[in-house]
Amino acid sequence: MDRPRKLHVKSYGCQMNVYDAERMVDTLARDDFVETKDSGDADVVILNTCHIREKASEKVYSELGRLRDLKDAAAREGRDMKIVVAGCVAQAEGAEIVRRAPVVDVVVGPQSYHHLPDLLRQAAPDKPAIETEFPVAEKFDFLPPPRPQAIRSRGITSFVTVQEGCDKFCTFCVVPYTRGQESSRPVRAITDDVRRLAEHGVREISLIGQNVNAFHGEGPDGKAWPLGRLLEHLAAVPGIARLRYTTSHPLDVDGSLIAAHRDLAALMPFVHLPVQSGSDRVLAAMNRRHSVADYRRVIDRFRSACGEIAFSSDFIVGFPGETEDDFAATLALVEQIGYAGAYSFKYSPRPGTPAAELTEAVDKAIMDERLARLQNLIDEQQAAFNRSFVGRSLEVLFEHHGRTPGQLVGRSAYLQPVHVMALADVIGTVQQVAISGLERYSFFGSLTATTAAPAIAPPTRVASPLITHNGA
Ligand code: 5AD
Ligand code: SF4
Repeated sequence: MDRPRKLHVKSYGCQMNVYDAERMVDTLARDDFVETKDSGDADVVILNTCHIREKASEKVYSELGRLRDLKDAAAREGRDMKIVVAGCVAQAEGAEIVRRAPVVDVVVGPQSYHHLPDLLRQAAPDKPAIETEFPVAEKFDFLPPPRPQAIRSRGITSFVTVQEGCDKFCTFCVVPYTRGQESSRPVRAITDDVRRLAEHGVREISLIGQNVNAFHGEGPDGKAWPLGRLLEHLAAVPGIARLRYTTSHPLDVDGSLIAAHRDLAALMPFVHLPVQSGSDRVLAAMNRRHSVADYRRVIDRFRSACGEIAFSSDFIVGFPGETEDDFAATLALVEQIGYAGAYSFKYSPRPGTPAAELTEAVDKAIMDERLARLQNLIDEQQAAFNRSFVGRSLEVLFEHHGRTPGQLVGRSAYLQPVHVMALADVIGTVQQVAISGLERYSFFGSLTATTAAPAIAPPTRVASPLITHNGA
């Protein structure tokens, strides 16, 4: 019998890439490819790339150097290994990738993954196949839904893309160029995916999109539905215990989303709401289209609707022209909000973006120093946030076995990992856990009930006196 053809996907960057990688695996499974964890043994290796910061893009080229050796070794064994560059570097650099790394056989942008089987057939030695158009047709209409066997191996939680692209054009960001115009999937297609996932044991769905709360997919009534309404609809799907969504823009937080946080027990009270900077001057230069006061008002609206809500954010330090006063305003905002966690990055000029033309670059040593100060403050807040749960009870959705025999691992509403000793039938259920210890970012505790709740029991909301937030 012929050896099955093997596929290896390596994903970089955001959750949308993780989701897209799964869809690529599902697409090639139709051509009888099976997934392998060993790139050396693969017939097709896909690098699903990220272009958001320079470091992320450069990783691709060093990985391609390593793959060249693997491809040569495969050729010596008489095997033809094909190398695919997908994702946002593919979209941004197109044919340039093949010029820099002739080892590449296929370059495919994020809107064209349904063409992968054809592109692999077309690609020949010295004739790479390149597709980075933004086709008119929606890729979602062509990508297969998640396969049942893949869902089972992927577990209790799953991402579902609900919108893609962004029309905000923050001056530092490549997303509007690599992922294109904002577009939303229809509610019915999303609901079908969520139902299928729930039927195969998924209990938690994270709705993802580059600007997820700009969602305006067509509802069954023919009208555009906002994200809050979609969340309400999905909360009613049998088996779904938890819903999350990411990443949001402060300007697109509307009444429906606030109401969803007030009314839906399944919607986790943990929101990733990037602000990028605490200085109005820098926010204007970034074209964020909101002020610090606007951001704080949005946070207050969430907090009034849901007392236990916590937040995470993204920050950029060293945006061109950022002064010590601007940076101090960022630290002050972090102090005022109190985050449960956050990501912070040094500004990285991206070719083709308006900010790349700005000339007042911040000195590298100053950038390093600001990043360290910001990260220290965020780490302190995260540690205080986590410590506040020790000795209390948290609802935990159990996802998998831990490293020690008999140990299970789940996550709290705030995505904190929680370890308990319990029977495996607790996996896939939400349980109350008495938190007894904290080690770095992980909690240890014990189940407060002796029997497992039914697998699809809806979670009840615990009232908790949280005053801070967190980062995914
Ligand atoms: N430089 C540094 N950070 C960036 N981000 C996006 N573009 C850049 C850039 N050019 C960060 C933002 C965004 C997160 C996903 O990545 O904080 O929210
Ligand atoms: Fe990029 Fe987010 Fe700004 Fe859109 S809203 S341009 S994805 S940073």
